Amino acid sequence: MLEKLAEIKSKAIDELSTLSDLRELEAWRVRYLGKKSELTQILRRLASLPLEERKAVSASANEIKAFFETSHRKNKESLKERTYRDLETTVKGEKDVTLPGRPIPLGRLHPTTQMLCKICDIFVALGFQVVEGPEVEWDYYNFEALNIPPDHPARDMFATFWIDAESGQRPMLLRTHTSPMQIRVMERTRPPVRVVVPGKVYRYEATDATHESMFYQIEGLAVDEHTTFSDLKGTLYEFAKRLFGEERRVRFRCDYFPFVEPGVEMAIDCMVCGGSGCRLCSGTGWIEILGAGMVHPDVLRRVDYDPEVYTGFAFGLGLERIPMLMYGIDDIRLFYSNDLRFLRQF
Ligand code: PHE
Repeated sequence: MLEKLAEIKSKAIDELSTLSDLRELEAWRVRYLGKKSELTQILRRLASLPLEERKAVSASANEIKAFFETSHRKNKESLKERTYRDLETTVKGEKDVTLPGRPIPLGRLHPTTQMLCKICDIFVALGFQVVEGPEVEWDYYNFEALNIPPDHPARDMFATFWIDAESGQRPMLLRTHTSPMQIRVMERTRPPVRVVVPGKVYRYEATDATHESMFYQIEGLAVDEHTTFSDLKGTLYEFAKRLFGEERRVRFRCDYFPFVEPGVEMAIDCMVCGGSGCRLCSGTGWIEILGAGMVHPDVLRRVDYDPEVYTGFAFGLGLERIPMLMYGIDDIRLFYSNDLRFLRQF
C-alpha cells in the first residue's frame, strides 16, 4: 500500500510539471484529489486495514493529500500569473487589443460633382429646374438646330468625336457642348422655360494643362414673354455673387455664338488681385467664366416658339475652370487622372 502511495505521488509530481493552463490543472486536481481518485479510495478503505498498517498508510496518505493540496494552490497562483503575463505581451505586441479600431475609409464626392451641385443649387434657388441630356447626340441638335450648318466655320471651334454611322443614317457625335439640350427642352415644353443642364461634353483635342477631351459644362436657358437682356445680366450677376462672393464685379463683352443674338461673354473681376492685374488673370484684372446671349430668333422658330411673343437667354459655362480658379489648380488633367492625393484635398 505504501508503495502504491509513493507511486501515485511521483506520477502526480511528474504530471504537475507539464501543466500549461488552469484547465489542465483542474483536470489534475480531479485526477489526484477527486472523489474517484486512487488517493481518496485508499483513505476511504483505511478502516478495513489492520491497525499497524492503518497507522502507517494513514500517515503517508494524509501527508500526500496535504502535499497535493499545497501543490495545487501554488500551481494555481503561478498559472494565473502566467496567463496575465501572456495577455500583457499580447497587448504590447502586434495584437494590441486596446488600440482604437481602424477607421473605415469614407468616400467623398469628386470636386467636379461638388461644384456641379453648388452651381445647380444656386440656379434652383433662382427658379431654374435641373435636367440632363444624352452625351451621344445627333448632329442636328449639336449643330444644325443651333444655326451651325455643315459648312459653317463655327464647326471649327468644335472638332469632336464622330460615331461611325451606316451610310444613309443621320450623323451622330459626342456632344461638344450642352447647348443641344436647349433644343431638346424647348421641343418638348412650352414657355415659360427655366432650366440648367449639367453634363459631360467632348472635344477632339490635344490635352494639356488647360484642355481635356472630356469636361463638364452647365447650360442655362430661360424663355418667356418679355425676357430681356437685363434678365440675363441680372441672373448671371446674382449667380456670380452667390458663387464667388458678394463683392464680385462682373463684365459683359460682345462675343459670337451662332445660336444667340446678341452674344456675350461674362467675366468676373480677379479674386486674387481684385482687378489690378496678376498672373491668374494674365494681367487683365478680369477672368472670363461663361458665354451667353439672347436666344436667336431662328432657334426659337425651329422649335415652334414665336419670336414675336417669346424671347429668352441662354448661357454655358465650363465647370472645371471654376474650382481651378477658386483653389489655384493649375492643370485640368488632375481632375480625371484618379490620383487620390489630389482628390482627397476636396
Ligand atoms: N455652348 C457654348 C460653348 O460651348 C457656350 C454658350 C452657351 C454660349 C449658351 C452662349 C449660349 O462654348
